[in-house]
Amino acid sequence: MSNESAVYKLQSVRNDEGEVWIADGGWDALAAWVAERDGVVWMIHDQAVDHVAERVHQALKAHGVHVLGRRAVKVTEAVKSLHSLSGLYTAMAEAQITRDAWVLAVGGGVLTDLGGYAAASYLRGVRWIAVPTTLLAQVDAGIGGKVAVNLAEGKNLVGAFHLPRLVYINPDVLSTLPLREWQTGLGEIVKSALIEGGPLWRRLSQAVPAIGEMSDQWRWIIARTAEIKIDIVNRDLEEHGDRMFLNFGHTLAHAVEQIAGYGQFSHGQAVAMGSRLALYLSEKRLGLDPRVRLTVEGWLARWGLAIALPELGYDTLEPVLLRDKKARQFGLQWVLLQAPGKPRVVDDVPAGLVAEGLRLLAEHHPA
Ligand SMILES: NC(=O)c1ccc[n+]([C@@H]2O[C@H](COP(=O)([O-])OP(=O)(O)OC[C@H]3O[C@@H](n4cnc5c(N)ncnc54)[C@H](O)[C@@H]3O)[C@@H](O)[C@H]2O)c1
Ligand SMILES: [Zn+2]
Repeated sequence: MSNESAVYKLQSVRNDEGEVWIADGGWDALAAWVAERDGVVWMIHDQAVDHVAERVHQALKAHGVHVLGRRAVKVTEAVKSLHSLSGLYTAMAEAQITRDAWVLAVGGGVLTDLGGYAAASYLRGVRWIAVPTTLLAQVDAGIGGKVAVNLAEGKNLVGAFHLPRLVYINPDVLSTLPLREWQTGLGEIVKSALIEGGPLWRRLSQAVPAIGEMSDQWRWIIARTAEIKIDIVNRDLEEHGDRMFLNFGHTLAHAVEQIAGYGQFSHGQAVAMGSRLALYLSEKRLGLDPRVRLTVEGWLARWGLAIALPELGYDTLEPVLLRDKKARQFGLQWVLLQAPGKPRVVDDVPAGLVAEGLRLLAEHHPA
């Protein structure tokens, strides 16, 4: 893969297809893509990236695309709700969106989940375009067509699979992204490198770029991580098999986030902890080479993600782990690694081993 803009295609099970573009700067290619297709555009965007939405809007106008309206949303996780959805439907009705319109969503994972679900449900489904603006959304959340809002009872409980026809990834927008949000995306990049075990794993093992300045190295990493997600989604659009591997590091991460309270640890920090535990369990259960964990701990240290696990007894953890709906149905499942690139779903990890890993990782951290 070169550093120039590249086009990847996502195939959908419903016979329509979505494209994922990695842009090498600017918005003209996006606007030209829309202009080549019929239909007006309705924009929804995260207020934090008003400047990006404005540029997209201008590019669309310059290409003769009619923009029906533009709605800014102040983003917090709480905005992924039925309440905001209802406000969006009203705005969509007022803008007189018809089934041949495009919904164009500009923002992080919260905004693409919310805007994507509005597009999936309004008029029984309107075509949509995602312009992800966080690292997490560029390498993960914006890709794959899973869209949802939260209920008080739990995250992402109301949603759909609604593939965006175009995901337009422009890494330059990350120049304003705060450190914590970089780290969130990096957690997923670590996960992807481990389940891939190929070019991304090798490249990061050779050199780990510092957070911040956009560079060809980052552009390559973002494009490759997006490609890994695309490959997995293509093999398993509705999450029966391989898409499970994307949960690497997330069994513990979700539990830590719940126990510590959302917000105390960022998702990236929690995934970093979860990955270290999963690697430890992989060593013990599947004979993974311990040098893999050392390598990954080096990356985490470089990115400020090498934090000790909180002192979590297994007794505290287990009930939370088992609250997960899949765990209730199938028992606890861990995504572990035999080697980089060889993930396995393992359902018989002894509690004693998990407890031992938790103890060890609370005492030792690689920073
Ligand atoms: N659909 C999926 O497959 C999938 C996968 C993973 C996560 N998610 C969802 O994604 C959400 C998290 O996404 P996220 O991490 O992108 O969070 P987010 O959308 O909340 O964005 C994080 C923060 O960054 C700000 N922001 C966005 N772009 C910016 C930019 N370019 N510069 C400066 N600030 C910017 C936002 O306003 C917000 O404050 C969660 O709701 C999660 O459930 C979905
Ligand atoms: Zn994650």
